Amino acid sequence: MTTMESLIGLVNRIQIACTKLGDYGGDNALPTLWESLPSVAVVGGQSSGKSSVLESIVGRDFLPRGSGIVTRRPLVLQLHKTEEGEAEYAEFLHMPKRRVTDFSAVRKEIQDETDRITGRSKQISPIPIHLSIYSPNVVNLTLIDLPGLTKVAIEGQPENIVEDIENMVRSYVEKPNCIILAISPANQDIATSDAIKLAREVDPTGERTFGVLTKLDLMDKGTNALDVLEGRSYRLQHPWVGIVNRSQADINKNVDMIAARRREREYFASSSDYGHLMSKMGSEYLAKLLSKHLEAVIKSRIPSITSMVNKSIDELEAEMDHLGRPIAVDAGAQLYTILELCRAFDRIFKEHLEGGRPGGDR
Ligand code: GDP
Ligand code: NA
Ligand code: MG
Repeated sequence: MTTMESLIGLVNRIQIACTKLGDYGGDNALPTLWESLPSVAVVGGQSSGKSSVLESIVGRDFLPRGSGIVTRRPLVLQLHKTEEGEAEYAEFLHMPKRRVTDFSAVRKEIQDETDRITGRSKQISPIPIHLSIYSPNVVNLTLIDLPGLTKVAIEGQPENIVEDIENMVRSYVEKPNCIILAISPANQDIATSDAIKLAREVDPTGERTFGVLTKLDLMDKGTNALDVLEGRSYRLQHPWVGIVNRSQADINKNVDMIAARRREREYFASSSDYGHLMSKMGSEYLAKLLSKHLEAVIKSRIPSITSMVNKSIDELEAEMDHLGRPIAVDAGAQLYTILELCRAFDRIFKEHLEGGRPGGDR
């Protein structure tokens, strides 16, 4: 394992600790620790292809499908690359030590766990679901899937849901440490993209936004997306990535991910419009690009994360003193565990900083 891989792992563990303490970006016990952690949030309009992109990055079908608002709680998806030949499995934070190898069971559990909190009300909830996937076929990466932006509530949905979703998504993407994966479909005018509208608002210079253009295969014949992909329509600091996901017909025919990835590669290889961009297109390239970027951002943020962790240690110690030791109540025990974790991080981050001079660790 390289130094960088374990950095993403460390951040994953702090993120889990934060969720356990009730800190996921709102006004909670440690409002700023979660915020100090770099993360990648997936945003886009409904049906823009968010789920398809995530499944393609993972290489498995595992997300709930359907019409209406399917994603109603943030899904913190932690991908862990394992050794070649090892079996793939998933693990939920709310079901510790249970290895799920059947990915249709993963899909069902995401649905059930969403309903457990939202009570089938079709409301949304900011409490994240944490899902880890261990596989030789993934890159080390953490992605946060958020509800799709919509314009109108449909039958049976609460009136205020459109605004609630936008506020929840904004609460993630407005944080300076959030890397925005902005998904827009190529068969719609980029000027009307919900993802780009929001990204432009919170990240006007485009330094933390990655633009992803899906549905290239669905554009009108004789048109292409070169103006977008080459940055002329909407300029970002990072290059745009074009994607061809499975169509609904492919999904109905059970075209698997391996075949879908191969078809996507073939699409770019044989395209007269995009052939020259081939090495920088597609979901596999996107996954690698994001993993590398997330590692670099975490590394550059170590000093500020360390100082947040230290601040959290101080706050936790004060809270522990207040509760008194030995701890009888659950909350105290939980705080104690997290305090220990923060102390460990402080130590490990310092080691990374010391050993992490340019060229020293790769
Ligand atoms: P989400 O609502 O943003 O999560 O969108 P989904 O990933 O569920 O995709 C919505 C629909 O668009 C599904 O029927 C997908 O099969 C289809 N779709 C997504 N991306 C593409 C693409 O690149 N090409 C084609 N042909 N269909 C796509
Ligand atoms: Na959109
Ligand atoms: Mg979806």
